Amino acid sequence: MLNNCKAIQVAENIFWVGAVDWSMRNFHGYETSRGSTYNAYLIVDEKIALVDTAKIDFADELIARISSVVEPSKIDVIVSSHVEPDHSGALAKVAALAPNAQIFTTNPNGLKGLTNRYGALNYKAVKAGDEISLGRRTLKFVPTPMLHWPDSMVTYCPEEKILFSNDAFGEHLATSLRFDDENDLDTILFEAKKYYANILMPFGKQAQTALKALDGLEFKLIATGHGVIWRTHIDKILDCYRKWSAGTVDERAVVVFDSMWHSTEILARTIVEAFAQRKIPAAFYDLKATPMSDIVTDIFTSKYLAVGSPTINNQMMPTVAAFLCYLKGLRPVNHKAFAFGSYGWGGQSIAQVEDELKAAGCEIILEKIRVANLPTVEQLDDITGKILALDL
Ligand code: FEO
Repeated sequence: MLNNCKAIQVAENIFWVGAVDWSMRNFHGYETSRGSTYNAYLIVDEKIALVDTAKIDFADELIARISSVVEPSKIDVIVSSHVEPDHSGALAKVAALAPNAQIFTTNPNGLKGLTNRYGALNYKAVKAGDEISLGRRTLKFVPTPMLHWPDSMVTYCPEEKILFSNDAFGEHLATSLRFDDENDLDTILFEAKKYYANILMPFGKQAQTALKALDGLEFKLIATGHGVIWRTHIDKILDCYRKWSAGTVDERAVVVFDSMWHSTEILARTIVEAFAQRKIPAAFYDLKATPMSDIVTDIFTSKYLAVGSPTINNQMMPTVAAFLCYLKGLRPVNHKAFAFGSYGWGGQSIAQVEDELKAAGCEIILEKIRVANLPTVEQLDDITGKILALDL
């Protein structure tokens, strides 16, 4: 696609040359209502370095932005922080234009992953503590395995105090302005939390290890792989990552369900109101109305979770099964949960939901709530009473 995309300077002789994906609404199952960006950075020094590329669909945009500063053939160094194709997709195309560039990646996982995807290119494997000089600037490599792939790494430039953080500290957020303070902070922080919940939740320990490895470094910019570049609210996003990686939860409940003829929905409303009577804020999520990626964002920092399903053909509803499968994979921590549901005859779904909650690592705090057909007022009062009596 022809374009006149230009680089955007983010520090002296350092440019954002990435791409904005305004239309992306699904990132391998994660519903991205605000699109995303694939951030890449060009450092012009005695040597010229490119940190990351972009999704292959945006290769032309990336190359146009690079070309607005230097001829791509002049690139000496390409840092490939992460093999996932939203960052490495355009690597082979850029490498073909920059035949002298060495491609720095982690050993062995980055090397294996890039070779698998792009064949034999001019790779140079690095390990923790390795650094290269670009002239006036240095790039120090900090592998961050399983944050969130085995190959992941971040790169620090001490002279500029810039951390090129790839997936860490990012958000799926398409914006026309590149910096945190040029955008609405609540929106950025919500999207950063959503990103953490949907991508990094299983890797709290690895996030804490990475935070430790970065401890003591000063940051003027955190140049992420997605969303905004942090320059004004760096402390805020670091604090968020400390809280999130520690699995800290708030006194808050999330009630998630699907319903066939509103009976399970009535139970869900009763549970929300019972938590409210305890002054515990509770959210109500009908799986037909809210994407799973938004629901898990709320669950992530909420201590209590109730999941409900009617029974259909001896099973829980497929929407609830998919949701619980997604939740289980994210390995949530520190959650107290219970199952509920209405049924016509068998009622197998409620025990199935409870089993899945246990498998997801939740502590079961209330005997599963099972109601045949339409709940009566007495049954609803009984459920309220049980929640009020819980020793939380
Ligand atoms: Fe943004 Fe793990 O890729």
